[in-house]
Amino acid sequence: MITKAQSLDNFIDKSLYEKNKGYYQRKIEFGRKGDFITSPGISKLFSEMIAIWVVSFWENLNKPEKINLVELGAGNGELIEVLINTLNKLEIVKDKFKFFIFEKSVSLKKLQKKKFSKSVKWLDSFDKLPNSPTIFLANEFFDALPIKQFIKINEDWYENYVLLNKSGKFSLEKKKVTKKKMEKIFNQGIDENQNFIEFSPLMVKYLKSICKKIKSSAGGILLIDYGTSDKKMYDSLQGIKNHKKVNIFDDYQNIDITHHINFNFIRQIVNLNGLKVGGITNQGSFLKNMGIDLRAEILSKKMSFQKKTDLYTRIRRLTHKDEMGELFKVMFVTTKDNNFKTGFNDIKI
Ligand SMILES: C[S@@+](CC[C@H](N)C(=O)[O-])C[C@H]1O[C@@H](n2cnc3c(N)ncnc32)[C@H](O)[C@@H]1O
Repeated sequence: MITKAQSLDNFIDKSLYEKNKGYYQRKIEFGRKGDFITSPGISKLFSEMIAIWVVSFWENLNKPEKINLVELGAGNGELIEVLINTLNKLEIVKDKFKFFIFEKSVSLKKLQKKKFSKSVKWLDSFDKLPNSPTIFLANEFFDALPIKQFIKINEDWYENYVLLNKSGKFSLEKKKVTKKKMEKIFNQGIDENQNFIEFSPLMVKYLKSICKKIKSSAGGILLIDYGTSDKKMYDSLQGIKNHKKVNIFDDYQNIDITHHINFNFIRQIVNLNGLKVGGITNQGSFLKNMGIDLRAEILSKKMSFQKKTDLYTRIRRLTHKDEMGELFKVMFVTTKDNNFKTGFNDIKI
């Protein structure tokens, strides 16, 4: 329950994750009927392309005998399911991968445990990972984390807070922020020339500990999300209900709340933590570079016309610039000495 003024990230956290009540803590449905359709649910070919990328990266890491694969926020498990099935069948990597899920939602964890109790371990901290190279996968994970917003007015900075009025309605209110707090924020890689700042302190915390793990054991993170690679930050906070944008205060705890990822900010954070961006491109290019069209051609040879149409409609949705192809970006972060480029060899954004 919200009874007093909250920082925006606290409000979002309560909306999405309050015990038994938050949006993600109850039974949420993925797929066309539910609020979510993410790429793994649009077509299995998306997850297959990730599996091929994972195997190529494993080769680039000198084919380690033991390697960890961690999915951050695995939702209904459609991506990791394809990865487990593919990697366990493929002779060259069979039994080499250990699978982990980092998941906050109690109800989604329950669903995941029903499917993968034998093949996956659930983590609540990255420190507990075995001491082997580690590949982290994050599809639409970081956009689901709570954010803070700061606004500059006449050289002074203000933070957005959420108030609840007597009639039970929420509203945003600006609270002045100390210079000390702003200096701490600028130390995290945010450019002082911004006049609006939006970022997730939780994302910064997770990225720091992921970078630490990658630095000490080798590996990388493949991060797929919607957002921008522009330096300029903007207000991208949005509520989503039944696949439509709504105000974040509409229907408390019954809507998803998300924001656009600022990939330039992520670059700053990983650089500050001793890693580099190995590649960034848009989702359409990445999937095409990994061979999604060829895979579709092979699969569709034996399909009826109707199934073929369905397959190509789904691929268009994942790759076309007017659909998810351009708004969604793929970023690969790794150690400074690693020059793996697969999937990223043309477009730079
Ligand atoms: C938008 S869903 C994406 C699910 C999945 N990756 C997919 O592509 O379908 C976000 C996922 O991240 C999880 N999540 C959000 N915040 C989290 C946190 N702080 N720690 C761990 N998991 C979190 C959610 O419960 C959910 O499983």
